[in-house]
Amino acid sequence: MTQQAGPKGRFATEIQRPSGMANQLFAKKTLDSLAHEMAGEHRLRRVLGPVALSALGVGAIIGTGIFVLVGVAAHDKTGPALMLSFVVAGAACVFAALCYAEFASMAPVAGSAYTYAYITLGELFAWIIGWDLILEYAVAASTVAHGWSKYFQALVKLFHHEIPKRFGDAPFDYGADGIIAQTGAWFDAPALAISLLITAILVIGIRESAGFNAAMVIVKVGVVLFVIAVGAWYINPENWHPFAPYGYTGLSFFGYSLDGHVDDAGKPVGMLAGAAVIFFAYIGFDAVSTQAEEARNPQRDVPIAIIASLAICTILYIAVAAVVTGMVKYSELDIDAPVADAFKQIDLGWAELLITIGALTGITSVLLVMMLSQPRVFLAMARDGLLPASFFAAVHSRFQTPWKSTLLTGAIVGAMASLLPLRVLAELTNIGTLLAFVIVCAAVLIMRHIDPDAPRPFRAPLVPLVPILGILFCLILMFSLPWENWVRLAVWLFAGLVIYFGYGRFHSRLGKQLRHEIASHGVSPAGSPGDEP
Ligand code: ALA
Repeated sequence: MTQQAGPKGRFATEIQRPSGMANQLFAKKTLDSLAHEMAGEHRLRRVLGPVALSALGVGAIIGTGIFVLVGVAAHDKTGPALMLSFVVAGAACVFAALCYAEFASMAPVAGSAYTYAYITLGELFAWIIGWDLILEYAVAASTVAHGWSKYFQALVKLFHHEIPKRFGDAPFDYGADGIIAQTGAWFDAPALAISLLITAILVIGIRESAGFNAAMVIVKVGVVLFVIAVGAWYINPENWHPFAPYGYTGLSFFGYSLDGHVDDAGKPVGMLAGAAVIFFAYIGFDAVSTQAEEARNPQRDVPIAIIASLAICTILYIAVAAVVTGMVKYSELDIDAPVADAFKQIDLGWAELLITIGALTGITSVLLVMMLSQPRVFLAMARDGLLPASFFAAVHSRFQTPWKSTLLTGAIVGAMASLLPLRVLAELTNIGTLLAFVIVCAAVLIMRHIDPDAPRPFRAPLVPLVPILGILFCLILMFSLPWENWVRLAVWLFAGLVIYFGYGRFHSRLGKQLRHEIASHGVSPAGSPGDEP
């Protein structure tokens, strides 16, 4: 029924070791080894062209962020300066995207940032980033499924029905005072249902998934354009004054405010603090890089798709932020469904249904791409022996999809989305993703240094400036998030290290190769077994 998609042949685990030291933690894969792995037999199907890839990018990007988080960000943290927040978060993403694009063109395999870290920073960092990417994909997907449920319930209400409360929310949440309280619900049934439905679609196959995604992307981009084109006629420029009622900063360091204001609960507010929240709206452009292995011409098309999808979304977001804060005073924006509600407030109630359907569609396609990306990161890690290959590298013989890990991802996403509070999931996603971006930017700098002549079909411009700016912007956003997120990130990474030192370190292909080399030759020889006759 299943096949192992592990690399075959003697080149699969070539090692690049730190000079003079046989240290598995910092042992690196080489670009050559990736090329040989890609030539292996049991790879995913190459069916995606540049338009389908860009649609996957847009599909992963426009969702909960623009339809939901703009409300809470403008209302509580930025006011109309939300437009600038989108510029800052977009800039951080553009710098990171250029770095992702360079790597995606060099190493177009399924693992994305995980693979890039393996060839530049070594196994331990690769594991850390792979573990961190779970925050970006599986935890983000749970956040998004949660948001989907809210919009679904709003839609049902528009038709004068209601989902019973006990099946409509997570069982607990944090109050404004930060204390955990019961919501009275048992679990979020719509969030669970959509997670399972998307899982079924993903198991059946990538081609079908991409077609389904493209249709949803057309609907949601249409609705966003509608919001901009129609909403622009209802802008009252007075609503843009004051422009930045909470100031232009909002920078804190582990709970100590460095610059700007804090709210009653001590959390940073201001344009930068808003950028750290609505950064969520941009998450997803890098998901394109996890589909590199299914691209027909990955070296050319993946960089195009990453940059095109990000550019399209940045322009749309700034326009939506301008329109929504221009239509309605920021202090009167709705928190749950701000875009639809803005049209209701200017007496265009009929647009509410249209926007609700657009939001629901947009969020569905985000969920699809997030849940598509997670199993592919697992797959890359399992091929390297860091996760059990019999499970995580199993490719379905008929559908040719990583079906077991797709089912596992669906179960995890469904459970988290139906049982955990939205805010916790969203913030954890942001800090985890920002960390991944920092590591990818750093990895580009390191790779240019250690292997300056490697073929780079796409080169990030202005290196080292672009990666350095990427690192700086992402760190600023990380420090603009409430401090609890740092604690959660640390706990998550610690759990990951326990798994690595309990399992991955012993089962790693690279580690086994290294131990074999040491047993055969002692620790002195340079080179790798792949170079031997
Ligand atoms: N960027 C995605 C969204 O806004 C995660 O839903």
